[in-house]
Amino acid sequence: MAQPFDLTIRHGRIVTGEAIVEGDVGVRDGRIAAIGTDLAPGARDVDAAGRWVLPGGIDSHCHVEQLSGMGVMGADDFYSATVSAAFGGTTTIIPFAAQHRAKAVPDVVRDYAERARAKAVIDYGFHLILANPDERTMAHDLPEAIRGGITSLKVYMTYDAMRLDDYQLLDVLDLAREHGALVMVHAENNDIIKWLAKRLIARGHTAPKFHAVAHDPLAEAEAANRAIALARLVDTPILIVHVAGGSTVELIRSAQNLGAHVLAESCPQYLFLTADDLDRAGLEGAKFCCSPPPRDAASQESVWQGFMDGTLQTYSSDHAPYRFDETGKLPKGDQTTFKDMANGVPGLELRMPLLFSEGVLKGRIDIHQFVRLTASNHADLYGLSPRKGRIAVGADADLAIWNPDRETRITHAALHDQVGYTPYEGKRIKGWPEVVVSRGRVVVEDGQLHAERGSGQYLRRDAPRLAWPLRRPGTSQRSTNPLSKALADHGCLPD
Ligand code: URP
Ligand code: ZN
Ligand code: ZN
Repeated sequence: MAQPFDLTIRHGRIVTGEAIVEGDVGVRDGRIAAIGTDLAPGARDVDAAGRWVLPGGIDSHCHVEQLSGMGVMGADDFYSATVSAAFGGTTTIIPFAAQHRAKAVPDVVRDYAERARAKAVIDYGFHLILANPDERTMAHDLPEAIRGGITSLKVYMTYDAMRLDDYQLLDVLDLAREHGALVMVHAENNDIIKWLAKRLIARGHTAPKFHAVAHDPLAEAEAANRAIALARLVDTPILIVHVAGGSTVELIRSAQNLGAHVLAESCPQYLFLTADDLDRAGLEGAKFCCSPPPRDAASQESVWQGFMDGTLQTYSSDHAPYRFDETGKLPKGDQTTFKDMANGVPGLELRMPLLFSEGVLKGRIDIHQFVRLTASNHADLYGLSPRKGRIAVGADADLAIWNPDRETRITHAALHDQVGYTPYEGKRIKGWPEVVVSRGRVVVEDGQLHAERGSGQYLRRDAPRLAWPLRRPGTSQRSTNPLSKALADHGCLPD
């Protein structure tokens, strides 16, 4: 007789939505077919006694096989990035198809799709990075990309080669509202950074630590404030990515409390690194250079608070893998200044283990918050629910079986990316996803990969599922923006 399940995971502590079930998960045809106790044997049984069974993570911000705004190619391709993600408990990634100004959006999307199809070992979708919102792009290419399942786009307020001005941002926000896409904003004030950087370099302050001086917290907070104002003006939700500074967390919280449709993300580097890490001997600090940069202990605390009280909805890696050599961080060798360094840090594999250890096991967040921050909120905001992000009957069997007692001293030698270092080298953490299942396939077990190149599937995503308001009890109930109504009354916005 045929087995009722292809795979049965037994005796685990399973997090299903808001509940915890002690029992089994039965998997058939790549999907979760049953959750219960004493389920029938599968063609294969995995013992999860003493383990957490959690949804596989969704990393909705990572740069894979992508040319940066400065024209630098990252070290990870779709194979190494997805292998690395899988070893860290992530079963879905949403990297970027990045438009550079001379490129047409359909060509960009086709190019990334072809490369990912041949190499990815876990499932993936794409956001579009939009650098050139010209007439054809706005009238035709962008709506077509959104209809094709790329239901989110990232825009930059900084980097000369990528940034949009406020007028362009308004056009993009307006279009996103009309077509049901979510706009992710890299919020930093370009002129503040350029002005500070020029003065620093002129005075001989070229070391990596001056990256954090040039990218002042005010540059982040000002741009975030402006992005929120633009989004409120045209009544379009935005998601501010890689929030670093405490003042930015506070202004996002205030805007949410006024009813503004603002979502936000932060990343491991803003919980576990500070600007002091950029001040290491020689050029070593370049390994910690990302934008915005890690700040100070008070900002780390604010980011934790933001995750704890729901101001920040998603925890992503912003994996941006640049090697510590001429191909990445050090294009001018030992003459490289902070202005020349590729911005970004790796984090696909360690994203979830770091939060599990320092968040869940140290009692800052509970296991449900961990699941929301690493998986289910990403699924909702990026149009992957109900297929991804939760352990529920009918959902894809994307699972990670966590040993909460396993102790690890982080070393890059044990990781699977191609970057050559990790900013978290030497850190001791507890808890590790020992078995990882992607659409019913055991892809990681006993420290070994069991997945073929190209076995990941492209995810054509639905419109974002956004739940408003985000207001907290006891705060003002004012409406988002009376001006939106005035604009609608004059035919500038739909009613
Ligand atoms: O420094 C960073 N974050 N580099 C990656 C590109 C980006 O802006 O997210
Ligand atoms: Zn960014
Ligand atoms: Zn990024």
